[in-house]
Amino acid sequence: MPAQSLIIDCDPGVDDAVALFLAFAAPELEVLAVTTVAGNVPGRLTQRNARIVRQIAGREDAPVFGGAERPLKRPPAGAGAFHGAEGLGDLEPFEPTGIVGDGPAANAIVDLVMRRPEGSVAVAVLGPMTNLALAMRRERRLAERLGPVVVMGGARSEGGNITPSAEFNVWADPDAAAVVFGSGCDVVAFGLDVTHQVRATEARIAAVEAVDSAAARATASMLRFSQRVERDTVGWPTSDWGAPLHDPCPIAWLIRPELFQTRPCRIEVETASDLTRGHTAVEFRVDPATARHRWAVAADAQGVFDLIVETLKDQARGTGA
Ligand code: BDR
Ligand code: CA
Repeated sequence: MPAQSLIIDCDPGVDDAVALFLAFAAPELEVLAVTTVAGNVPGRLTQRNARIVRQIAGREDAPVFGGAERPLKRPPAGAGAFHGAEGLGDLEPFEPTGIVGDGPAANAIVDLVMRRPEGSVAVAVLGPMTNLALAMRRERRLAERLGPVVVMGGARSEGGNITPSAEFNVWADPDAAAVVFGSGCDVVAFGLDVTHQVRATEARIAAVEAVDSAAARATASMLRFSQRVERDTVGWPTSDWGAPLHDPCPIAWLIRPELFQTRPCRIEVETASDLTRGHTAVEFRVDPATARHRWAVAADAQGVFDLIVETLKDQARGTGA
């Protein structure tokens, strides 16, 4: 099987960083570019953080493009409490050496997708969907040219993590999410219903720590940071608990779809109400043959962690890192 060409749009962010380490290490994926957006921390930091992760992963061949500094219509949000003030948890930030690509993220997305065969480029959106929405506005044919769009975003039965009914990425820029879900492209959404099933327990973090590479050490540091935040701010109901692993889920699905169950649906985003801003209304009563959206409902959590560990191990063996 040829590798899946992929653009990763993200706001690193500790779990974005884990997703990037997984994608950079996976032979099943060809990372064409990483594009960044303001989200967890401001845009200048998400762009720098993506370059730091790229450098640690030894993948300076992958271009990084900076993108939107703010949502389409609302003031920028932030989630520094869950990611550390600079966005990479306990990792000591440094000025990365790799360069930033020319032009804004939205242009890069349009160029990369329109230059390649129809349906061949997947886009993973791991932060607010501003960049992809801007790209769709810039190029009206983009939606029909895209391969699968996999997003971390949304909340349904599990409830929200920023308000009772909304998840951070969709809440931060609901107008952009509405553009993406309404565009007619195929979207697979990994909301809190499924990412809350994938928890970084002590044993799972220890398995990552046992891999001897710079990427694995940085991945483990992100997981440890989230573990501490979860313990301090959300709570620890059982001894075998862990922080949820959000952003790696869509990446894991691209590599091993069998690790997840998804259901065909139609997803609409609340943009008008202040109370339920960013809620994802998921309609399952659709014709599966024509439905363009899928909602992830179940995950093999141990399988996702095994995939991360095995992929990082294989990369370490290959590079001698
Ligand atoms: C999402 O919000 C961000 O804080 C995380 O990086 C993830 O993309 C989870 O709601
Ligand atoms: Ca994110």
